[in-house]
Amino acid sequence: MDRPTAGRAAVIAGLGAYVPERVVTNDMLAEHLDTSDEWIRTRTGISTRHVVEPGTATSDLAVEAGARALKSAGGLTPDVLVLATTTPDRPCPGTAPDVAARLGLGRIPAFDVSAVCTGFLYALATGAGFIASGLAERVLVVAAEAFTTILNPADRTTSVIFGDGAGAVLLRAGDPAEPGAVKALDLGSDGTGRDLITVPAGGSAQRSTGLPAKPADTYFQMDGKPVFMNAVLHMTASSKKVLDEIGWQVSDVDAFVGHQANLRILHAVADRLKIPREKAVVNVDRVANTAGASIPLALADAAADGTLRPGDRVLMTAFGGGLTWGSTAVEWPGIEAG
Ligand code: UT7
Repeated sequence: MDRPTAGRAAVIAGLGAYVPERVVTNDMLAEHLDTSDEWIRTRTGISTRHVVEPGTATSDLAVEAGARALKSAGGLTPDVLVLATTTPDRPCPGTAPDVAARLGLGRIPAFDVSAVCTGFLYALATGAGFIASGLAERVLVVAAEAFTTILNPADRTTSVIFGDGAGAVLLRAGDPAEPGAVKALDLGSDGTGRDLITVPAGGSAQRSTGLPAKPADTYFQMDGKPVFMNAVLHMTASSKKVLDEIGWQVSDVDAFVGHQANLRILHAVADRLKIPREKAVVNVDRVANTAGASIPLALADAAADGTLRPGDRVLMTAFGGGLTWGSTAVEWPGIEAG
């Protein structure tokens, strides 16, 4: 490494998002599941979600979002691509190299990160680390999920909650004091909670038994109640750590961008942090829980509708399978979502 790296920060220089066209309403789900629009809206805040058509895979969403982030960054090209996803196109190889090739990025390093709903923040931290160390000047961080492809269509407890989508940011090396600089990152995990959010079969643990998988175990499963409690606990604690580290008061936060799992969770975390609920960016009503893609999708929506303005102090936090969690903060840069 021959470049001076002291004082380097990863700066958000581009933002893009993409959701598949097809919109599925709660009433459409209630046609084949024992559920109702009323239950889904009151328990989760979700009204609609975007769902991939058969034949559309995670890479297709990632390429769209990645291209938009590159456009938003005004032609900057990355020298690394990190893709966060829970739904890779195939168990092997990673999906990122395919995405890099289809974006015309040549033979740059490209790899997947797996942290479920915290995926974007883990990938952001990875990209920021490449830049801080001098290993890269620019990193494309993509989070993409064709999450509905792993849902059990017969399971009403999970089928109503998730949607598909992708978001991406282009990070470039810059100054820690400039707008867009990733200010601090808190990440954590607790593997003792691995069974709370899981696809039990299909990996080496189940395959090594030599026994056929139970059909339900090939799908996503979640134990909603403890996940809810853990989400509130960890997103609150992790947000506080980041605020403490960078010296922001709660009143300094202009926009609270929490993982869009459930409106009740967003409100519970905002209340515990004493951030007014109106400062919580919300798009879970329209896109549902898009797992790792949810934070960049929420950022893109908020930037597009003017909720997020240059100079706004943004606190982001997420929680997901693993268990994993994380938080970060930026002063919003003057960029438009591509
Ligand atoms: O993205 C990673 C992080 N994920 C999360 O943070 C999700 C966290 N969990 C949640 O958001 C909530 O726990 C859920 C939305 C999943 C469930 O809400 P809840 O208020 O915790 O409901 P519950 O699981 O306690 O279920 C209440 C009732 C049950 O019926 P009984 O036992 O009271 O008769 C469920 O069987 O609601 C029933 N139920 C449903 N009813 C209609 C569960 N799912 C549905 C449904 N439609 N889709």
